[in-house]
Amino acid sequence: MATYLVTGANRGIGLEYCRQLQRRGDDVIAVCRSASDELKALNIEIITNIDITSESCISELVKRLGDRMIDVLINNAGIVERISLDNLDFESIRRQFEINAIGPLRLTQMLLPKLRNSSKVIIMTSRMGSIEDNTSGGSYGYRMSKVALSMAGKSLSHDLKPRQIAVAILHPGLVKTRMTNFTDSGITPEESVRGLLARIDQLNLENTGTFWHSNGEVLPW
Ligand SMILES: NC(=O)c1ccc[n+]([C@@H]2O[C@H](COP(=O)([O-])OP(=O)(O)OC[C@H]3O[C@@H](n4cnc5c(N)ncnc54)[C@H](OP(=O)(O)O)[C@@H]3O)[C@@H](O)[C@H]2O)c1
Repeated sequence: MATYLVTGANRGIGLEYCRQLQRRGDDVIAVCRSASDELKALNIEIITNIDITSESCISELVKRLGDRMIDVLINNAGIVERISLDNLDFESIRRQFEINAIGPLRLTQMLLPKLRNSSKVIIMTSRMGSIEDNTSGGSYGYRMSKVALSMAGKSLSHDLKPRQIAVAILHPGLVKTRMTNFTDSGITPEESVRGLLARIDQLNLENTGTFWHSNGEVLPW
């Protein structure tokens, strides 16, 4: 039994991570800004009022963890705001950098004392942050923030290897969540998280730093 900490745990993919981890008997610490009824119904530990862009919130999180250690840190919280070239909103681009790229890096850095040798760090990025895979343009803030996040994940994989901490950079697939307006062409959170957990289970120091689709495909940068 391992201890997983999941951000953005109140809905979507984060909530489904909590559900499947609890079902298989792992300990879950669900971190969010405010808990949903679905999250409360899981009867797991919930830490609320944590905005991942706030240093003081993350300090509070560290304090509330006490002397507990984390085996797997899942940086899942994120936002999308669609921006096209003819409607560039630089405040939105900055906000997406704060939440999608800087937030997870700061959280990971501040939680390092809570990770042991053999812990894992998961970076929930997006295929939208793949430069090679960008065949349609647009989505400036989201694409730019996710490629920055993936780069942070890659650097973390090198910097944390001496501590024997492995890092995975994961794309969940196109998933029916609020983020995608529950798109008909998406897969369910259940299917996505089944794949994501399989990737997390296979993560080790040999394959650390890999950019995986939840279905196991290795994605191009
Ligand atoms: N769905 C997809 O198809 C897809 C594809 C590629 C990548 N992803 C990535 O997968 C992750 C989860 O996505 P999802 O589809 O589950 O999205 P979602 O349903 O929109 O959930 C996003 C989660 O992030 C939290 N969050 C947003 N801003 C935050 C902040 N400043 N501080 C703390 N928490 C914050 C939200 O909390 P609140 O409820 O408080 O807003 C919510 O729990 C994201 O990183 C996303 O970019 C998703």
